[in-house]
Amino acid sequence: MQTSSNEQVSKMYDDVSSSYNAMMATEIKLPIYNKVMTRLHDSITGLPGSIVDTSCGSGHMLVMYHEQFDQDRALIGVDLSPEMVAITSQRIGDYAKVVVSDMRELHLLENNSAAAVISFFALHHLDAAGIKAALTEWHRVLASGGQLVVAAWEGEGAIDYGDAASIVALRYTAEELAQWTVESGFVVTECDVEEVDEMPMDAIYLALAKS
Ligand SMILES: C[S@@+](CC[C@H](N)C(=O)[O-])C[C@H]1O[C@@H](n2cnc3c(N)ncnc32)[C@H](O)[C@@H]1O
Repeated sequence: MQTSSNEQVSKMYDDVSSSYNAMMATEIKLPIYNKVMTRLHDSITGLPGSIVDTSCGSGHMLVMYHEQFDQDRALIGVDLSPEMVAITSQRIGDYAKVVVSDMRELHLLENNSAAAVISFFALHHLDAAGIKAALTEWHRVLASGGQLVVAAWEGEGAIDYGDAASIVALRYTAEELAQWTVESGFVVTECDVEEVDEMPMDAIYLALAKS
């Protein structure tokens, strides 16, 4: 099944950027974010390089990292939606660089330069070939021992957005995602599948290291 084009996805997030921003102000307080970010911080202590959020949305995860964990770490936010990037730029101070870009084309990053890559709830906008391209790009930019944290919607087939949106986005199983990450040169260190309140899908949380 074909996922919606970048243009369609970008427009959808442009249109909902304000409400998404408001929703994330509450969501970011959920214990899972603290758990993931604490684990990420611990795993890159002593490893130089930036943290890149490859689908930063409203920027809440980058701000959380800066405020709660490390004020010295360089942060980079990437998102397809100009409106999301505008919201993140406004939220974030000059400690971060925020750009409109496709997560598969991190041209502003040199090889082996990043300590961590974050991808939260955006892989459903890519087909399998797109996910493999993203993983290859993230492996390129990560330093040896660099960390990748992924959250994705679990399952098979298209996500049902009901009347909320008309785009096509896909769910993947934990096994599929884990296999593609390993094929791309990552080692899986954590793989949890958890229920999400008020959502008809479970979420997959993967922690990986560049091997
Ligand atoms: C559901 S939101 C998640 C935002 C944020 N990661 C979070 O967890 O709150 C999905 C985000 O992915 C972005 N996105 C979708 N496809 C993308 C792509 N190919 N490259 C970069 N960002 C993309 C959207 O613009 C949107 O901001």
